[in-house]
Amino acid sequence: MPDSAIEAIIDYSINKNGNKGGVFPTSIATDETIDRAAKVTADFINAPEADEIVFGANFTSIAFQVSRAISTEWKVGDEIVVTRLDHDANVSPWIRAAEDRGVTVLHADIINGDAQIDIEMYAQLLSRKTKLVAFCAASSSIGTRTDVKTITELAHQVGAMAYVDAVAYAPHGPIDVQEWGADFVGISAYKFFGPHVGLLWGKREHLERLPAYKIRPAPDEIPGKWMNGAQPYELLAGATAAMEYLAAIGGDHPEYQDQFPQFTGRRRDMKTGMTAIEKYENGLTWKFIREMKGRSKYRLWGIVDEEKAQWRVPTIAVSRDGEKSNDMAFFLSREGNGINIWSRSVYSKSLSDRLGLEKTGGFIRVGFVHYNTNEEVDRLLDALDTYGKPPKTISTP
Ligand SMILES: Cc1ncc(COP(=O)(O)O)c(C=O)c1O
Repeated sequence: MPDSAIEAIIDYSINKNGNKGGVFPTSIATDETIDRAAKVTADFINAPEADEIVFGANFTSIAFQVSRAISTEWKVGDEIVVTRLDHDANVSPWIRAAEDRGVTVLHADIINGDAQIDIEMYAQLLSRKTKLVAFCAASSSIGTRTDVKTITELAHQVGAMAYVDAVAYAPHGPIDVQEWGADFVGISAYKFFGPHVGLLWGKREHLERLPAYKIRPAPDEIPGKWMNGAQPYELLAGATAAMEYLAAIGGDHPEYQDQFPQFTGRRRDMKTGMTAIEKYENGLTWKFIREMKGRSKYRLWGIVDEEKAQWRVPTIAVSRDGEKSNDMAFFLSREGNGINIWSRSVYSKSLSDRLGLEKTGGFIRVGFVHYNTNEEVDRLLDALDTYGKPPKTISTP
């Protein structure tokens, strides 16, 4: 987290700590904190209005909550489509809601190799029975991106809603929910350098129409009807500062402004900041992939063809035959390496099952972000080269 995000949490906790809706100063400051968080989030993802932003504990909890409301419009015999690429946070809430309503769940498969969603196969799953499609903008396991706009258009052609998990995509590139056209887009601030809090944008018509599960004294209007009880206001202050930090990166990169003539001010800075990040990370990603291709002990998963660079984020799954990913991650984080890395892939359950990973020890998940350097990529490569070799013996004089 940037210092500014940590300081914003401390500042809220010391100077503003209260609850919303009162007439006294700390409560007024709390209302302002929520309003500002919504405005900055709307700028970050180009939402039409700030009151279409809903906050909650995390992506997963919000998906469970919203799926309850959405599924009130489903009936027995309807269908929904989830994918084998997704984190389970955008799968299980829909499976549970479908079970409650007698709705059939279809699972969109991935193409072998690149692990992309096959659009033609996907289209065949859709029909007038489809009520909702849930899919990710990028896989949190193997970094594959999806064509959000096309999948959304296909869903809309049959009258289905599109619920997009942009959690793993958000730290790596600009989000424009209006360009994507989906009905709901969820993100999680800790992925883009903020604290642990979830954020959801929903189309106004849905947020207003759908029956939120809420307590009676909560407002009937949006966004309040979707936010029961106290929110983590200090974390909203931190998330706001994290997004402002990304906008400040944009301010340092006016060279990308021409790509976004439709935006001004902070919205433009958010887009140029995330574009600068995307370009920089691309260098790290492909340096790593190119180098790894020469290391035959290791296998890379997902897209490794640089011509398809636009379809991956810098989340790169790496496995090694006969090796448990937990052992690799343990080694990388210790032995003076200091590289903290995720192993196994438990949360992308459908993908792990599809690739048979749990049986083979899974993969480590290399994740580069904009503050990583080429030297750190080299350090990781060196550590991977050392893994499995007997420790050097120290010769005594
Ligand atoms: C793609 C994706 N979706 C959803 C989640 C879950 O997010 P949260 O922890 O905010 O519920 C994650 C977390 O890693 C993720 O990577």
